[in-house]
This record gives sequence, structure tokens and C-alpha cells, in this order.
Amino acid sequence: MSLSQVASSIPASPTIALNEEARLLREKGEPVIHLGIGEPKNKTPITAILSSAAKLSGGDVKYVPTDGTPSLKKAIVRYMEDNYNRAAAPYNVIVSDGAKQSLWNLLFTLCNPQDEVIVLAPYWVSYPEMIRMIGAIPVVVTPEDGTFVPRFDEIERVVSSYTKAIIVNSPNNPSGMVYPEELIAKIVELCESKGIYMICDDIYNKLVFDGRVAVPAYKYTGKDVENSKVIVVNGVAKLYGMTGFRIGWVTAPRKLVEIMTNVQSQTTTCVSPVMQSAAEGALTGMQSVVEALRLTIQNNRDVLMQELHTFTDVHCIKPQGTFYALPDFRAYIRKSVANSSAELAQFLLKKALVVTVPGKEFGIEGHLRLSYAGSVKDLTEGIERMKWALDPNAPSEIYIGDRKLVRDWL
Ligand SMILES: Cc1ncc(COP(=O)(O)O)c(C=O)c1O
Repeated sequence: MSLSQVASSIPASPTIALNEEARLLREKGEPVIHLGIGEPKNKTPITAILSSAAKLSGGDVKYVPTDGTPSLKKAIVRYMEDNYNRAAAPYNVIVSDGAKQSLWNLLFTLCNPQDEVIVLAPYWVSYPEMIRMIGAIPVVVTPEDGTFVPRFDEIERVVSSYTKAIIVNSPNNPSGMVYPEELIAKIVELCESKGIYMICDDIYNKLVFDGRVAVPAYKYTGKDVENSKVIVVNGVAKLYGMTGFRIGWVTAPRKLVEIMTNVQSQTTTCVSPVMQSAAEGALTGMQSVVEALRLTIQNNRDVLMQELHTFTDVHCIKPQGTFYALPDFRAYIRKSVANSSAELAQFLLKKALVVTVPGKEFGIEGHLRLSYAGSVKDLTEGIERMKWALDPNAPSEIYIGDRKLVRDWL
């Protein structure tokens, strides 16, 4: 069979593949604990439910403008004013089917084949694959061992005449780091002076802990949305735990939004108005739901850190935001059970029925990404199981469901 070489070379998203594996195991009755999943357990905000229900019950669910309904765009403009202190016009905004599609449209619109896009490791799994899909080249900057923040001089060093954009994701999936303000300021300056786009994937911008603020890149440019190289990607998936509603958006100069709209008009026509109504309901409703979610997740982060402290030879930089941590498991990869983070994740799934995501997928081998978006019970039990499977200092017997298991491999 002769198929597209580019499409055939794209692997499945590892996180989505793991979700599927966990779902199948659960269907078979296996008591799987999913520490891989990137979505909170909260219920959809009531204002989102009511707003989408009203749209549905009105019975008028038809095509709407490709770039988003005017009322949702208005709510996004307001979000920009409130959270970015930046006035955007509706023509600076385009709504898509999740921030993932927003990023795809944006990269497709910005890049010619052979253009380069700088990606900062550890990075979200989809950036390099999306860049490759559009024929451009991902250029990865890796931080020094033991840190999750790239050095500015390293970023500056890889800029070439082909560099089109730098993707900055802070708070960061998978490390949970919030990049220092100084780094953000320097990247803005670099981008504005060299004419490179700075794509700020701000999907976790409100999920920050301990009184921290994820400072928007716009703070460091005097230019307005129309003339700046700063582009913001955001959405409702993480902000309100509305992952299934698939609403994301881009705020960018008008010309870019116009081209993205043409691209979207040829591929998706428009985003479902029911889902857009839900997003509008969330954005214009009570924002206390965001704070409630943030507090729950901050508490989960503390529980996770406590549990990890009792794990021999596992080191973890304390996450400052998101709902992920990226502990260093190299001691166990060297020791006995696995030769890579991928093998370690498979080992934990097989022996302890715990889903984790291998660091390799995020450009950081030797680590595992753990999500603490779920329940405290799953977190504590999940880490207990991992300790049982890996830590020689942990008790050698454990109950998983009603099965008593004995560790005989350490
Ligand atoms: C860093 C990052 N950007 C974008 C997305 C995509 O968000 P959405 O669900 O709105 O497509 C995710 C989802 O996991 C993410 O972690």
C-alpha cells in the first residue's frame, strides 16, 4: 500500500495511546490507576452546562462563522483584557476545536517547508510531531541536567535565518515549571528584535501554585496585539477542566488570523456552536470554579511530593503549576528492571497496574511524567504500588484489588 510518507511517519500521541490502554484494561476489570491522564476530575462548571443546554434546547444548531461565534470571541477578548492587560479586537481571535487544533492551524499558517521552530525541552509531546507534519523542522533546546528551564544563551545560539517561531509553554507540561520572568522577558526581546514569532501556549496559565503568577509575555513588549510577535494560545480544557468540549483559541495579528480562518474553513468549516456556547458560559460565569480547581490540584501536588519523598532514590523538582510532575527515575532505570523510561513505564503498568508516561516522549529520558489531576486516593495508592514494584526498601507484599502480590524481582 502506498501512503503518505509524512503521515505514515507520525506516531500516535503516546498519552492518548496510554489512555486507550488503561481503558481497555479497566474494561477487563483490572484495577488500573491512571497517573498518565491530563485532565482534572471536576464536574463541568454549571454555567457552561446551562449555556450549552440552552443552545441545544433552542433547536437552532447550524453552521456558525469559521473563526468563532461573535459572543464567544467577545468573551475571549474580555479574558485577554482581564488576564493579559491587552486589548485585542475580535478580528485578532480565532476559535478552534481545542488548543491542539489552534496550534496546528498556527504552525501550518506560519511555516514554509524547511523553516525551523524552536521547542524547549521538556516539551509537550505534540509540538515536534506537528512541526514535522507541516514539513518544518523542530529544533530542540534541552536544559542542563537536573533543571527544567532552558538557558537563554542556548536558545539564542540555535536561532538561524530559518527560525520562524519559538514555542514557550509555561506553566510547562510535563515539568510543572513556571519559567522565570527574566527568561520570558529575554525571549520576547529576542523575538521582537529578530522578527520571530513567540507562540505562548498558555493553556495552564491559571493553574499555578503557592501564590505564583505565570507572567504573560505581553508584559515585556510595548507593542499591541496587532504589531507584536507574541501570539497566545489558550482554551477551556485545563482552565475549567472542560477537556471534552474541545474549545481552544489563538490571539494574533489580524492577517495571521485571516489566513488561519481560511485554513480552518477548508478543513472544519466551523466549531460546534453548542461547544462554543459552553465555553462562553464558562468564561462569563463564576470564576470561583477555577480557584477551587487550582486549590484541589495544589493540594494533590503536595500529597504527591510527600509520597515521592519516601521513595528511595527518586528525585523530583517541585512543580510550580499544571497538574504534572516529572520525577527522575534514573536510579531505577540503571538498577534492574528497565533500560529506558519507556520500559520502566511498561514494567509499572504490567506489575503494578499504574499508568505513567515515559519522559522520553517529552524529550527527557530517565524521567516519568506523573499526573496529579485525579483523586488523592489514586495518587497515594498509585505511588505505593510504584514503590512496591521498584523500591527495595518498600514492603515486598501488597494488595491490588483483592489480589495479594509478592515482589520477587528485587
Ligand atoms: C501544553 C498543552 N498544549 C495544548 C494542549 C491541548 O489542549 P486541548 O485539549 O484544548 O486541545 C494540551 C493538552 O494536553 C497541553 O498539555
